[in-house]
Amino acid sequence: MTRQFKALMVREDNGIFNTKVEQISMAEIPKNEVLIKVAYSSVNYKDALSASGNKGVTRRFPHIPGIDAAGQVVSSTSENIAEGDKVIVTGYDLGMNTWGGFGEYVSVPANWVIKLPENLSLFEAMCLGTAGLTAGLSVYNLIHSGIGKEQGKIVVSGATGGVGSISIAIMSKLGYEVVAISGKEEDHFITQILGAGSIISRKDFVETYDQKAMSKADFSGGIDTVGGSILSGIIKSLKYNGAVTTCGNVASAEISTSIFPFILRGAKLLGIDSVEQPVEFKSEIWNLLAKEWKPTHLKDIVKEISIEQLSDVLTTLLEGNARGRYVVNHSL
Ligand SMILES: NC(=O)c1ccc[n+]([C@@H]2O[C@H](COP(=O)([O-])OP(=O)(O)OC[C@H]3O[C@@H](n4cnc5c(N)ncnc54)[C@H](OP(=O)(O)O)[C@@H]3O)[C@@H](O)[C@H]2O)c1
Repeated sequence: MTRQFKALMVREDNGIFNTKVEQISMAEIPKNEVLIKVAYSSVNYKDALSASGNKGVTRRFPHIPGIDAAGQVVSSTSENIAEGDKVIVTGYDLGMNTWGGFGEYVSVPANWVIKLPENLSLFEAMCLGTAGLTAGLSVYNLIHSGIGKEQGKIVVSGATGGVGSISIAIMSKLGYEVVAISGKEEDHFITQILGAGSIISRKDFVETYDQKAMSKADFSGGIDTVGGSILSGIIKSLKYNGAVTTCGNVASAEISTSIFPFILRGAKLLGIDSVEQPVEFKSEIWNLLAKEWKPTHLKDIVKEISIEQLSDVLTTLLEGNARGRYVVNHSL
């Protein structure tokens, strides 16, 4: 086996955080049950927070971020996982305080490892990544709250971001009419590639739906990825017994709403966590993502990048300028 591997390392120097592609000795990888050679990783907002030194995500530096990894098992002490298995790891502590997928190797506990489902390649798995799993969990929760496509439009925020774009692609594939909320002028991407029926700007959405205690009941459901006044507006514009999922706080962690949408219209606010879900439930969602939920134009949602391009992409995400997903190919 190789003695060194390439990784994007984040080092702290007097409170300043620097990222650099480095050769790391294999001896430095912490020993866990399963060693994986990573073929692909993907870039998520949390990676940008980790790489910029956000201590809420990563406490210990030097650190290799990357909350997602897909690759082949090199060695395993678990009887359920064999050398050569193709696997996915997302969430738990990967890329937070455990070295993550921005390195060519990861070493993880066996109960973090998901076997790659049939009908999904390692590349496709990372086109989806944590964003895809989170989108899948959001769709799952909406459907299990009784939100059917015949009940009317659903609304998705952060439309050009990772979770938002894949959520739109899944819901439109399932036949739902999707209204996309976006801060960008990306008509072709949002309507033709993702399949949304229409787009509303962030500003217009907030002005239309977040001004009063309750607004016009226009949506049967929503998938919110940004929080703040957009999530408040979605809650206030749900139809009777509607539901909205919440997974992220790109805009704000605060929401402002009275209890009226909940007690007068039966609105439901559904929290989504993709990190600590039991591995069996993650597997169930991955199997749906591999088959009937696989976005039709998955490859058009992603940009493939090399490890050397990562630093710039992480900055793009922090600035809110992401467009779809970024997949790191460790062979480039
Ligand atoms: N709970 C979980 O398990 C979980 C898992 C994954 C992600 N997350 C969270 O979900 C959120 C989205 O993640 P992501 O990977 O999709 O991020 P992303 O790729 O960076 O996308 C975020 C999108 O939000 C929109 N946006 C940016 N700044 C905004 C602002 N100030 N106000 C309103 N909208 C804004 C942009 O889309 P438009 O320009 O199209 O509006 C942007 O592309 C993050 O907070 C992330 O931490 C949570």
